[in-house]
Amino acid sequence: MIPNYLVSIDPVHIPSEKVDCLIIGGGIAGLRAAVELAGLRVLITCKNYLYDSGTYNAQGGVAVALNPKDSPQSHFNDTIAVGCGINDPAAVNILVNDGVERVKELIQWGCKFDRNPNGDEYDFTQEAAHSLPRILHARGDATGKEIVDALLVKVSSIPEIQIQTGFFLIDLVSDGECIRGGIFYDSSHSNIVFIQARVVIAASGGFGQVFQETTNPSSITGDLQAAAFRKGVVLEDMEFYQFHPTVLYMAGVPRFLISESVRGEGAILVNSKGERFMNIYHPDMELAPRDVVSRAIIREMRRTNSNCVYLDLRKMNGNFIVKRFPGIYNFCLEYGIDITKNLIPVRPCAHYAMGGIATDIFGKTTLPGLFACGEVACTGVHGANRLASNSLLEGLVFGARAGKKAKEFIELNNKGSFSLPRYKIDHQPGLSIDVYDLQKSIKSLTWKNVGIERDGDELHEAIEKLNIWGRYIFLKEFSSQDGWETQNMFILFLVMAHAAYLRTESRGAHFRKDFPYSNDDIWKKRQTFTKDFFKKETL
Ligand code: SIN
Repeated sequence: MIPNYLVSIDPVHIPSEKVDCLIIGGGIAGLRAAVELAGLRVLITCKNYLYDSGTYNAQGGVAVALNPKDSPQSHFNDTIAVGCGINDPAAVNILVNDGVERVKELIQWGCKFDRNPNGDEYDFTQEAAHSLPRILHARGDATGKEIVDALLVKVSSIPEIQIQTGFFLIDLVSDGECIRGGIFYDSSHSNIVFIQARVVIAASGGFGQVFQETTNPSSITGDLQAAAFRKGVVLEDMEFYQFHPTVLYMAGVPRFLISESVRGEGAILVNSKGERFMNIYHPDMELAPRDVVSRAIIREMRRTNSNCVYLDLRKMNGNFIVKRFPGIYNFCLEYGIDITKNLIPVRPCAHYAMGGIATDIFGKTTLPGLFACGEVACTGVHGANRLASNSLLEGLVFGARAGKKAKEFIELNNKGSFSLPRYKIDHQPGLSIDVYDLQKSIKSLTWKNVGIERDGDELHEAIEKLNIWGRYIFLKEFSSQDGWETQNMFILFLVMAHAAYLRTESRGAHFRKDFPYSNDDIWKKRQTFTKDFFKKETL
């Protein structure tokens, strides 16, 4: 059912370029990986423009044990508790310990985190499920921008690193033994190019666009996860998808994140009747883990027959709000909401994929020469749910490790010649598919049947529909980016729906109404999928 390639192409006969390392994605993980490859020819590709990444939009901050009252052990414990016991402890250990060094290094490279009003200490913020204030932030609520700018200064000091924007990855290329590069659609010139590479590092972020409601930029369609899957690479933990509880919800307005740190600084949640409700759901109230807050909001919306709840900052100091959250303040003001005076309508949206391309703790995937780091990867560091603000740290730590291992791989595998297959798709000429309609159908089915609350019947219904759509979706050879993106989204939806259906329990971000409790006897483990699973129509 799942093809090896999306386009018929002969890589030998299209324009090509040779590099040592191809890094796909210009967020924190990709940029940090590139630094480790200094001295080699490195190409970083971005699907759209340079600042179009999850990192650049990140508001809240970086969780790191730098507060004198904190320790990596405490950060470790909080990460494991939120991950509901199925995190990989080795990966978490690396995250919390290496993380301290990586953040100090970033500061040396020029990244300026906000300090307290005296300027003598960093201003650590509290976020959900952290035992103490641990979150560094920058420019108030523009942490991602500060980090990307600092990393770009570092990367541009290394002459061998090139950045290419407007490059959409259609397919990874392998010779059956090893990765050999990628086939791209160059949107500036409307042509297809082959980038031949000795190693490829996937650092392209998650797949939030598979859902109707998401905080992710429109470019985040899971292209690398799907391309790797087509090559037989293992995907892991795909049932665990995190929903962010508080995303601005107004008709026609982009789904803009209202950072968790707003609640960390004292904002409360109220329902459409003006009642505070989190006390019914968790002793930590607004700072309960994200999955708990998201489900509580959904239930309140249902109970009060409303399509949102509200964040209330009115008891907080107005000057503090404007200084601490300038991005959120200004964005909301553009749409007529003064957050120092007015309630902010919010509801949960798809935010972060705990699952992705399975890697070891060095970013190695199951395909030699292909590495992955950041949200696209699954090291197991997050388990069933991600602790708030662990993702920027993950990108830094595992980006650096993947970059280092990729360099070693190049040094050890100096093989010059290899032969590339010609890719010929057996497609059905003239088959007409309305891409827009298909994409809309995928997004709404995901949201409805594989969303915040799931159950066996709805998951089964989704899988049955996917099996029907799967009979024709790959018979069409698209020649446009939105077509290829839709095929990628379909693959990720298919894997996610099966993973969620098979996990007959609730754990972390995966909540089953028909199995509302965790079942450690059977399910204290992680699920992996390869395309062989879908050879026959399943379930
Ligand atoms: C936020 O600022 O709430 C988002 C940070 C994160 O996803 O960890």
